Amino acid sequence: MKNNNLVIAIDGPAGAGKSTIARIIAEKLNLTYIDTGAMYRAITWLAIQNSIDLKTQKDLLINLAAEAKLELEGIEKNTDKQSNSFQRVFLNDQEITQEIRGSEITLLVSAVSAIPEIREQLVEMQKKMGLNGRVIMDGRDIGTVVFPEADLKIFLVASAEERAKRRYQQQRKFGLNTQENLEAIQKDLERRDYLDANREVSPLRQANDAILIDTDNLSVPEVVQNILNLIQINSQKI
Ligand code: DC
Repeated sequence: MKNNNLVIAIDGPAGAGKSTIARIIAEKLNLTYIDTGAMYRAITWLAIQNSIDLKTQKDLLINLAAEAKLELEGIEKNTDKQSNSFQRVFLNDQEITQEIRGSEITLLVSAVSAIPEIREQLVEMQKKMGLNGRVIMDGRDIGTVVFPEADLKIFLVASAEERAKRRYQQQRKFGLNTQENLEAIQKDLERRDYLDANREVSPLRQANDAILIDTDNLSVPEVVQNILNLIQINSQKI
C-alpha cells in the first residue's frame, strides 16, 4: 500500500487456521481483524431467514443484501468462554455472531459466495474497511481481488486431514455441531474447498506474490512468529 495504511491479507482453504492466526497477530500489533467469511455467512443467514431459493430467487437475495445493514464489531479480548468469535456480526441491527456458525449456514455459504453481485457488494465494503487503517483481513480472495496491493500476503494451507482434526477439536471445545464426526467434517471441508476453488468469480487461489505457509507440522505460535518475521521484513509500517 502506498499511503500509511497497513493491510495484511491471509487467504487459504477452510480450517487452515486463518482466523486463529490473524486474530493473534491483530492483538500483538494492534491491528483491526476482519473475518470476511463472516460477511458471506451473514448474507447466507439473510437468505435462510427469508426462505430464499437460490436457484430461482437469486435477484431477491441480491436486492435484500444491497439494502441490508451489515456491521462488524471487533472484540478486543474474548472473555466469553462459550465462543471462539473475535468479531461480533450484526445484520439490520440484529446480532447474529453465533447464528452464522451453524451447520445450515456452512452448508449453503459457498453457493451464496459464488454469486458475483453479492461478491461485488461485499468486496466494496471490505475495500472501504481497509482504506483508513491498519488491518489484517482473512478470506479467500483478499490478496487476489480485495487488496492486490496488500503489504503482505499469506496463503495458509494444511492437509484436509489436519484441518478436519483441528475443526473437530474446536467444535468439541465450543460445543458446536458436535453431532458431526471427523469423517463428516473432512468431507464438508473438501466439498467447500472444491466449490470455493472452482467458482467462476474470484476463486480461491494463491496470489502470485503471496507467501505459502503449510501449517501441518507447525504450532500456532510458530506460524504467528513466521508471519511476524515476514511483516517485519516486508513492511516499515509496524
Ligand atoms: O472463512 P469461512 O469458512 O467462514 O468462509 C465461509 C465461506 O465464505 C467460504 O466457504 C467461502 C466464502 N468466502 C469467500 O468466498 N470469500 C472470502 N473472502 C471469504 C469467505
